Amino acid sequence: MQRNVGRIDVFSDPAHIARALADLFSNCAQTALGDRGAFYVALAGGSTPRAAYELLAAQPLVDAISWSDVFVYFGDERCVFPDDPRSNYRMAQDAFLSTVPIPPKNVHRMPGELPPKDGAGQYAQAIRADLGDMPQFDLVMLGIGKDGHTASLFPGTDPTTDDAALVRATYSEETGTDRLSITPRVINNARTVVICAEGIEKAPAVAAAREGDYDPTKTPVQIVSPINGELIWLLDRLAAGMLKHK
Ligand code: 6PG
Repeated sequence: MQRNVGRIDVFSDPAHIARALADLFSNCAQTALGDRGAFYVALAGGSTPRAAYELLAAQPLVDAISWSDVFVYFGDERCVFPDDPRSNYRMAQDAFLSTVPIPPKNVHRMPGELPPKDGAGQYAQAIRADLGDMPQFDLVMLGIGKDGHTASLFPGTDPTTDDAALVRATYSEETGTDRLSITPRVINNARTVVICAEGIEKAPAVAAAREGDYDPTKTPVQIVSPINGELIWLLDRLAAGMLKHK
């Protein structure tokens, strides 16, 4: 099957990426709410998306979105308690979920405090309950690590294994933490997938992902190839700096 490498939008600096990411979230939400009366999104963790999340909690976007029909999931989580500073849930709560008028029941936290395999199974059931066995999120938000990981799909493990699973327990060698991650089956069934990267330290991984030999075990982000959906890369000039083709 032809790989969907998506399109690249390059911005002058991180502030412009944050604005573009927040606008993409809002636009995808408007489309989904207009077409189906609900917007299902899987949030990215890490630090890059925080500025965009904060824009969602501010005017004009906070009033532009019908939050009662927004259903938030997470693309991945560190296996820590929700109040742990490393928690992706805590970051999103602090950045916007605790201030926008979204019903708490609409926010589905990954249970990082459970034994990883139990947490993965429980979260898969939560996704299935809302979206069935071939879940189609309206928007999946991703970052990329310096090592080419995305969500919590790390190098050294073939990301295409156990493709029937929706959520997988993984392990980050770099941080020495157990993780939970949605799988390629979920990511690639989304209507829109966005990958954000900023800073010169991400340039090699971005170039390897888009222009290097195809080897998702080495560069897991290469597995992101939406079947019918759109893939958008939001990069700053530094992260795009090693690309031959922009
Ligand atoms: C996580 C993320 C991870 C992240 C990348 C980039 O839990 O860390 O989900 O996949 O997107 O590691 O992280 P930064 O945005 O902090 O560079």
